[in-house]
Amino acid sequence: MENQFAIRDIGLFPSGERKITWVKQYMPLLNMLEQEYSAGKPFMGQRVLMCLHLEAKTAYLARVIQSGGAEVTVVASNPLSTQDDVVAALVQSGIKAFAWHGATPEEYRQHLVQAVSTRPTLIIDDGGDIVSLLHSNQSFLSCDIIGGCEETTTGVQRLRAMEKDGILSFPMIAVNDAMCKHLFDNRYGTGQSVWDGIMRTTNLLIAGKKVVVIGYGWCGKGVAMRAKGLGARVTICEVDPIRAIEALMDGFDVKPLAQAAREGEFFITVTGNLKAIRKEHFALMPDGAVLANAGHFDVEIDISALRSLATSVSQARPGVQAFHLSGDKTLYLLAEGRLVNLAVGDGHPAQIMDLSFALQAMSVKYLMENRRNLPVKVVQVPREIDERVARMCLASQNVEIDAMTEEQIQYLKEWRD
Ligand code: NAI
Repeated sequence: MENQFAIRDIGLFPSGERKITWVKQYMPLLNMLEQEYSAGKPFMGQRVLMCLHLEAKTAYLARVIQSGGAEVTVVASNPLSTQDDVVAALVQSGIKAFAWHGATPEEYRQHLVQAVSTRPTLIIDDGGDIVSLLHSNQSFLSCDIIGGCEETTTGVQRLRAMEKDGILSFPMIAVNDAMCKHLFDNRYGTGQSVWDGIMRTTNLLIAGKKVVVIGYGWCGKGVAMRAKGLGARVTICEVDPIRAIEALMDGFDVKPLAQAAREGEFFITVTGNLKAIRKEHFALMPDGAVLANAGHFDVEIDISALRSLATSVSQARPGVQAFHLSGDKTLYLLAEGRLVNLAVGDGHPAQIMDLSFALQAMSVKYLMENRRNLPVKVVQVPREIDERVARMCLASQNVEIDAMTEEQIQYLKEWRD
């Protein structure tokens, strides 16, 4: 019989269950969808594979999909963000799981292979690892696959590269690109949770400190905004001239990293790109500088270059590695360069993930219901889903908005007047 799970310890489930119960109180949209799906069972007969950061909010999404009748499997999208107690709680409620915290690269890949062996029909991916694995070996590409949804910027970039190379073999919905995702999750979610991760791991003061944010995209804007709110002096490094102007007009200093590196006390990468901080930058940084990454993969800080410069490496605190460089200089790397808000924190607030995961739950249903009409491409989330999520979110907070009059609707359609 095929393995149902590979996890750290099933006995940890009570603590995981408590974490899920806590976040459920703050996810009204998922509460509503759970009721809707429990009644209608839209996913009956489907096998849904979710490759996400396995913590309480994702666990609740898995339960919502399960309530709709699906057989659900979860696997980690990052070895350090997995919370073993939460995974145990999922297994306890009949969900297959292949993940444990701190899995080695070999174990991580093995878990992905075990997960795709469940022959999913629908996929929810975060970063593109499952879709990439499915396309790496023809035997994984079962004809049952209807398609999937992608959660993050980096995953969508990978999917677009696959589409361009003509190898993408099923439709993938770019959930990240929905307004109710990147405007709130990437900006406000990352903004808050990155600082939560940094502060709880280092216990250092941010007010008055020089913070360098590398990348002023949706996530970078949030990280910079919250740093400013904490009283930091913030510098932005960008490669895109338009985003650089945006940062300038938002009131930040903008300069190349080669200049900012000399004075920064905290450096945070959020580029989705590799080696945003390199050897030449480490050499310029002052003693005691703290380095953190919030981009999807642990490639943004060139850790092998940092290691090559170090005379020794030690553990300063849990989640903080000290790289001792020659000349009495120490640089501190958080969370081994993995995304700091999830590897040493609990990720985004539940209310933010409620929006993102409502989009996921609705998009995966849309995908299933429209399977015959969707092109084998990266597909946008339909505007109606985005708007429904926004309206549900406002309603859950008892916020009302205006509606256009008929005259206004007609006026906006008219070009003569
Ligand atoms: P984005 O595409 O909006 O922004 C990235 C920015 O980085 C762009 O403005 C780009 O010009 C800039 N950039 C690229 N290379 C650079 C370099 N070498 N130096 C300076 N700037 C550079 O992407 P978004 O949505 O902000 O996502 C960034 C990363 O964060 C992605 O990997 C994404 O998957 C990840 N992400 C992480 C989350 C978390 O919880 N930590 C949440 C959502 C996304």
